[in-house]
Amino acid sequence: MSDNFGFEEEEFQGSWNGRTLIRIGKLLRPHWRSTLGFMVAIGIVAAVEAFETYLVSRAIDEGLSAGDPQRLGEILSLYAVATATLAAFVFVFIYLTGRLGQQVQYDLRRRIFNHLQTLSLGYYNRTPVGWIMSRVVSDSERIADLISWGVLDITWGVMNISTALFFMLTINAQLTLVVVPLVPVLLIIATWFQARILVGFRESRKANSKITGNYNEMITGVRVIKALGREESSIQEFGSLTRNMYSASYSAAWYSALFMPSVMVCSAVAVGAVVYFGGRNVETVTAGGMSIGQIQAFVSYITFMMWPVMEMARVFASMQHAIASAERSFSLLDTKADIVNRPDAADPGTLRGDIVFDNVTFYYDENKPVLTNFNLHVKAGEMVALVGETGGGKSTIVNLICRFYEPRSGTIRINGMDYTQMTLHGIHSRTGIVLQTPHLFSGSIRENLRYGRLDATDSEIEEAAKLAGAHDFIITFDKGYDTDVGEGGGLLSVGQKQLISLARAVLAKPEIFVMDEATSSVDTLTEALIQKGMEALMKGRTSFVIAHRLSTIRSADRIVVIEGGQIAEMGNHQELLRQKGHYYNLYTKQFRQEREAAYTREGTPEQAQPLAAGL
Ligand SMILES: Nc1ncnc2c1ncn2[C@@H]1O[C@H](COP(=O)(O)OP(=O)(O)O)[C@@H](O)[C@H]1O
Ligand SMILES: [Mg+2]
Repeated sequence: MSDNFGFEEEEFQGSWNGRTLIRIGKLLRPHWRSTLGFMVAIGIVAAVEAFETYLVSRAIDEGLSAGDPQRLGEILSLYAVATATLAAFVFVFIYLTGRLGQQVQYDLRRRIFNHLQTLSLGYYNRTPVGWIMSRVVSDSERIADLISWGVLDITWGVMNISTALFFMLTINAQLTLVVVPLVPVLLIIATWFQARILVGFRESRKANSKITGNYNEMITGVRVIKALGREESSIQEFGSLTRNMYSASYSAAWYSALFMPSVMVCSAVAVGAVVYFGGRNVETVTAGGMSIGQIQAFVSYITFMMWPVMEMARVFASMQHAIASAERSFSLLDTKADIVNRPDAADPGTLRGDIVFDNVTFYYDENKPVLTNFNLHVKAGEMVALVGETGGGKSTIVNLICRFYEPRSGTIRINGMDYTQMTLHGIHSRTGIVLQTPHLFSGSIRENLRYGRLDATDSEIEEAAKLAGAHDFIITFDKGYDTDVGEGGGLLSVGQKQLISLARAVLAKPEIFVMDEATSSVDTLTEALIQKGMEALMKGRTSFVIAHRLSTIRSADRIVVIEGGQIAEMGNHQELLRQKGHYYNLYTKQFRQEREAAYTREGTPEQAQPLAAGL
């Protein structure tokens, strides 16, 4: 858990990266009409707002002070028209901006999702799920926020300030020049505060997710904690996490509290300046003084600028994080798949034929070779069992056959053709694989089965389930094939999930079939069912079976004992037992263990009889 957070917390360190900003901007290209639309709308809103303030000053001077009700009426009618316009355009920009944000987020998520499908297994090994999820969920949201609401705030701010300045200049240029320097000062102060507040919030959010993770681990691992007597140390660990959270929240609160008063002091200074310089010669406009209405307008414009400045500061401060998000998301989108179709790759048409490992060398980590100059020739239709100690390289061998990985050197030939000359789809669509931990998707049993072949009819689905030995338990459910399996198949037992994934493989009619420890997590009864289904499936197919329980693979055409990435022994069950080598040792050891287990379980040796007969 903590690993995932560690991955997530890497922060944007570099300076403002122009290339990233341009790339973020490009996300708007498909939606340039909405973008232009909302910017125009926001521009109009800002201008009309400033104009209304101007109207108020005219109403004061020409209507109220001059005691002219007709003039006042005229100005107020104009004000009403302006307000209607304002309302209409506020509606337009909020609607367009909200929609734009959703569109950008949707585009980004779809692109990331599609790209994830193309990446190879190696990528998923290296990258924590949590990291990928953050790219899809929070980063895409942050980027979308920046280029919708962020751009909106900045456009609004710039327009607001410039229209306010325009009207201020029209009223009194000299006084405007006194006030103008305050804008950048205010912007700098506000950005400084916002950045600190944001850091505080981020830190406390991070601490919060760590606390959640810690709770989670404490609850799920409560047995281990108690059994090992680690209560004290887990309490201490938790204490230090909450202290971090406290100090981060404290600093955010401190800066937040300081922020508003500072801004208020700034604007009060500006207002004071206006009243002081402007008020000295009220009514004597010709002498450079100002009317009451004009002073009122100036004061309004100053407060008017305050909000956009603060909003812009908030955007600038959060922009860094959005850029960091964008850099991570783009880095995901830029990741090249390790395994891709060669330019001249062709669909092989069929994978029926011999499978040959020719001097294959493979490693995940350069310093740790797994297979070195590995050779194996499997005949078409043969059932090969791979056995041996954990970590020997069995799974690696079948992963290579399925081309989830490719040899670092040497060649794998299927039906005489180097398989890197084939398209990935050509291989994957003709191979079937059942793993130790079966994966089902949320939905019904039927939908999960159909995942094996999308155009399968209901009767084909049922047939496959019968062949795989899944039908019998499926029909015991009230809803039968329409039973919901829950998230990840959580409503079914491992054995049931395994039978469904076997049926799914049967339906897909693969030409090469792989089972990697498929029976390791199921009870012996289900194992017997799976074995029957497996035998049905393997007829006439080249198949590879890795099984921990050796009784499962006795009938294999060939048993290959893998030790330390090498073939230690090879032959069928009888031959290998006669050799009294590695296989014999593995087999007798397991046999002994099972017999002992049977003794302690039942108090009788009967359970072990079938195995003994096999010997
Ligand atoms: N995804 C991986 N990344 C790095 N090393 C791996 C990976 N998978 C397996 N290995 C290493 O490769 C070796 C062979 O593993 P594996 O093929 O899974 O063995 P087996 O299936 O026989 O138990 C082991 O040393 C294991 O640690
Ligand atoms: Mg394995």
